[in-house]
Amino acid sequence: MSNLAVILVIQLFCLFVTTNFSLGTGGDTISANQTLSGFSTIVSAGGVFVLGFFSPGLTENFYVGIWYQVDPSRSVIWIANREKPVSYQSQLRLSHGNLVLFNEAEAPIWSTNVKSTNSSVQVVLKDDGNLALIDISNPSNNLWQSFDYPFHTFVPGYKIGYNKITKTHQVLTSWKNSTDPSPGLYSLQLDETDNSYILLWNRSIRYWTSGPWIGHKFSSVSSRIQDMYNLRFESNENETYVSYSVKNITMIHRSFLDVSGQVKIFDWHSASKKWNLLGSLPIQQCEVYAFCGAYSLCNEKSSPFCRCSTGFKPKFQSEWDLKEYSNGCIRNTELHCRNDSDDNVGGDEFLEIAYITLPKNNQSLREGTIQDCASTCSRMCSCIAYAHNRSGCSFWTEDLLNLNELTVNDSNSKSLFIRLAASEFQDHKNKASEFWKSKKFYVILGLVAAAMLISSIACSVYYQRRKKRTKNQGNEMKIQTVPLYDTEKQIANFIRSGQFREDEREGIDVPFVVLESILVATDNFSDTNKLGQGGFGPVYKGKFQGGQEIAIKRLSSASGQGLEEFKNEVMLIAKLQHRNLVRLLGYCVEAEEKLLLYEYMPNKSLDTFIFDGTLCVLLNWQLRFDIILGIAKGLLYLHHDSRLRIIHRDLKTSNVLLDVEMNPKISDFGLARIFGGKQTEATTGRVVGTYFGVMLLEIVSGKRNTSFHKSGQALNLLGYAWKLWKDNKALDLMDATLSESCNVNEFMRCVNVGLLCIQEDPSDRPTMPNVLFMLGNETASLSNPKQPAFVAWKSHSSSASSSKPLSVNELTATLGQGR
Ligand SMILES: *[C@@H]1O[C@H](CO)[C@@H](O)[C@H](O)[C@H]1NC(C)=O
Ligand SMILES: *[C@@H]1O[C@H](CO)[C@@H](O)[C@H](O)[C@H]1NC(C)=O
Ligand SMILES: *[C@@H]1O[C@H](CO)[C@@H](O)[C@H](O)[C@H]1NC(C)=O
Ligand SMILES: *[C@@H]1O[C@H](CO)[C@@H](O)[C@H](O)[C@H]1NC(C)=O
Ligand SMILES: *[C@@H]1O[C@H](CO)[C@@H](O)[C@H](O)[C@H]1NC(C)=O
Repeated sequence: MSNLAVILVIQLFCLFVTTNFSLGTGGDTISANQTLSGFSTIVSAGGVFVLGFFSPGLTENFYVGIWYQVDPSRSVIWIANREKPVSYQSQLRLSHGNLVLFNEAEAPIWSTNVKSTNSSVQVVLKDDGNLALIDISNPSNNLWQSFDYPFHTFVPGYKIGYNKITKTHQVLTSWKNSTDPSPGLYSLQLDETDNSYILLWNRSIRYWTSGPWIGHKFSSVSSRIQDMYNLRFESNENETYVSYSVKNITMIHRSFLDVSGQVKIFDWHSASKKWNLLGSLPIQQCEVYAFCGAYSLCNEKSSPFCRCSTGFKPKFQSEWDLKEYSNGCIRNTELHCRNDSDDNVGGDEFLEIAYITLPKNNQSLREGTIQDCASTCSRMCSCIAYAHNRSGCSFWTEDLLNLNELTVNDSNSKSLFIRLAASEFQDHKNKASEFWKSKKFYVILGLVAAAMLISSIACSVYYQRRKKRTKNQGNEMKIQTVPLYDTEKQIANFIRSGQFREDEREGIDVPFVVLESILVATDNFSDTNKLGQGGFGPVYKGKFQGGQEIAIKRLSSASGQGLEEFKNEVMLIAKLQHRNLVRLLGYCVEAEEKLLLYEYMPNKSLDTFIFDGTLCVLLNWQLRFDIILGIAKGLLYLHHDSRLRIIHRDLKTSNVLLDVEMNPKISDFGLARIFGGKQTEATTGRVVGTYFGVMLLEIVSGKRNTSFHKSGQALNLLGYAWKLWKDNKALDLMDATLSESCNVNEFMRCVNVGLLCIQEDPSDRPTMPNVLFMLGNETASLSNPKQPAFVAWKSHSSSASSSKPLSVNELTATLGQGR
């Protein structure tokens, strides 16, 4: 009998054993003198889980795993020897106080690896799927447990968290492929900086996030999925993790990180004896980073999802056939790449691939027309592809990943020009010449001729009419030059397109608006249209076509940045889209002018309300609290959720604008990038927290941080707030107009969080996710603030828009001295 036949018989036998009766060692334990091997299994006391040998697919590789007893397909939730398969003749037994897997040759392959003790031990499989090594004389003490070694599956009871003491994450990792459980490229872990779960490719590139924990759920996962569970977020001095249980206890549940890079959530359908897919995260397969591999197009609606781009073939045919994650594609023909722009004979050419998303990796940008893009790319041998849009050329020099096919009318679809050997084009031309000779060609020729005749008649009629109309409208039409009309229409479309879905943010390109058009809209930057003076230059109101009002920030020419860098920064800022951020609608660079066009906020900024004796009445407690939460959410997005991790270095009440519904929107974010200064942004996050703390206290008290300086009551608002807090009189800080509407619990939390944010030692200050958690959670326990660093804040008010904002360096230096 061949080897494969032996395996087949064993597999069938195993299936029979698990579905019908258990040929176990008896019970739910492995004790001394007992051995698990081949077909024997142990079953948890309630009959829920089974531990035994299994083999994925028809291979000779066996693993020790745990699976649900009801599941004949043995979908394992945990594997002991993940990276080291054994034969079915191997043995699992206790040895020197450990559970050890020995291979045929009696060599240890895997072990629980705990320090051996003299006491006698036992292994127990529990009904929650946890395999535990216990001390018989003290059974409640697990010397080792499988729950501490996550595999690729979540079942209720598992913790995928962060250990604060060892500073390590528990990580779920996908299988390498459907028959090899060793760790693959996709992993899931907790991001302890904002309490979210994230999916990573190759342990480094993040392609999905659950969004931060916001009190009772994760912000970016559909409620339909989260509502099935009781989710609980735990954070103590040792660890941070989320634990969960299923609401319907009769439900058999499992979710795991699939080889596809998606978390798949299943429940067991007992009638059909099948796992029933409840959801996938991310929802779209093509959102998984590098899912199709290099030079392969991903299409959500086709099967298989991946196909090689023209001029490329699958790297490994077999894996391609399995419709699993692909290793991508390789060229049919090597590139010629001659550095010779005049004579391209026998060189390379570019093939347009239309209606796709552009690759995410390694892009460089440059100005130019599409012809410039083509000639620049063809002159650089390292350039593999280019694309062109209004802001110029993009070039790629490394393998192209994440080419997702879109539909023709998808507004995000782009064209990419891929470099191919000229001979590839020759093939196409040959095919084409055959076509010319065919009968089909003559039929089509006839149709085209007919169509041309009809359209030329239509055109001439149209032009006759148009001529007449233009004459009638006379002089007015002259102002509306063609570029003017074009860019304005573009803005109008952009605005009309409304809210973007999360996954559409990628393709945002803000339109370039010609200066002429802006001069008309602002009446040559007239004073009557001036809205105010911001940190980076004056802001004007502009009225565009159709009455559309837009705020135009005229950046002071102090910014010495080049045109190209400026455009790049603008494109990056435009990608930041959040309901608590002011939206960038367009930009202009012409002559000496650098202009940014933003959505217009009729209610102006927060400081015009809270510090005004009459207007402050309009902001009752509920509105103020919502504004505080909104600002925190906007900052959280800037720091953590957006890819750029922007740190707002000029946060103050005058930079928080209010829309018609009094929703706060942060403005001027990202401008520090344009104005140079490339500080390491991650470390300055807590410093921005201090600006937030100042603003928080200003909002609840209705007082500027500087005003106390003058009155001599105390050093400043922060000092005053601290004094009241110390004397248990924090309620005295409340803006008098809030006395009726105020929720005392929320108010106290605000003051507490505000004081924590301005602590002298940065490590005492909460991170933005924590701020949001503490504010939004009535039961969150808040630590007691120590004396804040208010001495350093003498001259800083979050609203002092004319004064120069403290730079991050100044601030840290001041705080540093204070210690
Ligand atoms: C294991 O076997 C040894 C000798 O065969 C015997 O003395 C001992 O009692 C056995 N232990 C258990 C737990 O059965
Ligand atoms: C994953 O990252 C490592 C470096 O951290 C790199 O050596 C390896 O090539 C990467 N794997 C893939 C498939 O790109
Ligand atoms: C944290 O770890 C210490 C030492 O292991 C332990 O004494 C303490 O109870 C743990 N705290 C919590 C909340 O688990
Ligand atoms: C609980 O789950 C079982 C099995 O999936 C199902 O039959 C039952 O209807 C569920 N009960 C509720 C209340 O959803
Ligand atoms: C191609 O030639 C140009 C000038 O002829 C040179 O500047 C460029 O570096 C060359 N590129 C490569 C990739 O050899």
